[in-house]
Amino acid sequence: MSDAVSVDARLAGWQVRIEDALRRVLPSPDVEPKRLHAAMRHAALNGGKRIRPLLVYATGHALGVDETSLDDAALAVELIHCYSLVHDDLPAMDDDDLRRGQPTVHIAFDEATAILAGDALQSLAFERLAQAALPDKAKVAMLRELAIASGHAGMCGGQALDIDATGQRIDIDQLERLHAMKTGALLRAAVRLGALAAGAATAQQQVLDAYADALGLAFQVKDDLLDIEGDSVTLGKTAGKDIAQDKATFPALIGVEASRSRLQTLSATMFASLGQLQADASALEALGRRVVQRDR
Ligand code: IPE
Ligand code: IPE
Ligand code: MG
Ligand code: MG
Ligand code: MG
Repeated sequence: MSDAVSVDARLAGWQVRIEDALRRVLPSPDVEPKRLHAAMRHAALNGGKRIRPLLVYATGHALGVDETSLDDAALAVELIHCYSLVHDDLPAMDDDDLRRGQPTVHIAFDEATAILAGDALQSLAFERLAQAALPDKAKVAMLRELAIASGHAGMCGGQALDIDATGQRIDIDQLERLHAMKTGALLRAAVRLGALAAGAATAQQQVLDAYADALGLAFQVKDDLLDIEGDSVTLGKTAGKDIAQDKATFPALIGVEASRSRLQTLSATMFASLGQLQADASALEALGRRVVQRDR
């Protein structure tokens, strides 16, 4: 019990840490171009769950890296994630007007500003990672990892597959690949950045990859379920959008019950993988639980 409390406290501490860091590194809304800066802050300082930076801290912590060395990597993954949400919500993509309980960036500002804010958040992510307090060799590997995870072979590629699959029938293998790319790649990168910062051994990296792959797929399966089971106020985004837009999702393809049981299987894979880590995996375990049990 006391362990559980201390893990929660640790996660809460990292959450405060990333909020502070974001507030510090995002450009001031009082400096020109003020509208762009305000849009970037709107996109990033609006109550996200911060799962990706928490994964960076939790992985680094398990492998003995101090938090100061992890701050820029944690910032970088969250900034990429925030950029991806701004673009995901654009009229040309999912056309959403609510995100994290607030108007989306193109609604609160305008489309051109939303596109530019997303672009600038992405650039800021790489700028931060490039100046992390880590050895150059580790940093170059981390930059490469994040670039691959967010580009054509990762998040952007997955978003392209998502658009192609909208209104189409795809099979379960295609859907898993789509989910692994659009959502899984960045979550896996979060774990890998923590491992690279630690100079993790290959065996540990493999265990962490297995954990991250299960977590990444679980994350999107849960996101798909929440679109059906959640309400817009709790979610902070419009419920029921996937069905309205005929999106390729797990529940649409295999049904709600089978999606729920898939979540349980993925959960078991996560915990079994962490059991082999031979390090303090308590924070990673807690994040795994959070991903499958969350209500937003
Ligand atoms: C939502 O991500 C978009 C997906 C990748 C499914 P999150 O559920 O992590 O969103 P925030 O950051 O907490 O708002
Ligand atoms: C978004 O997936 C994934 C990325 C932003 C890369 P969704 O379109 O399902 O995310 P939500 O439901 O709008 O948050
Ligand atoms: Mg989408
Ligand atoms: Mg969307
Ligand atoms: Mg969704």
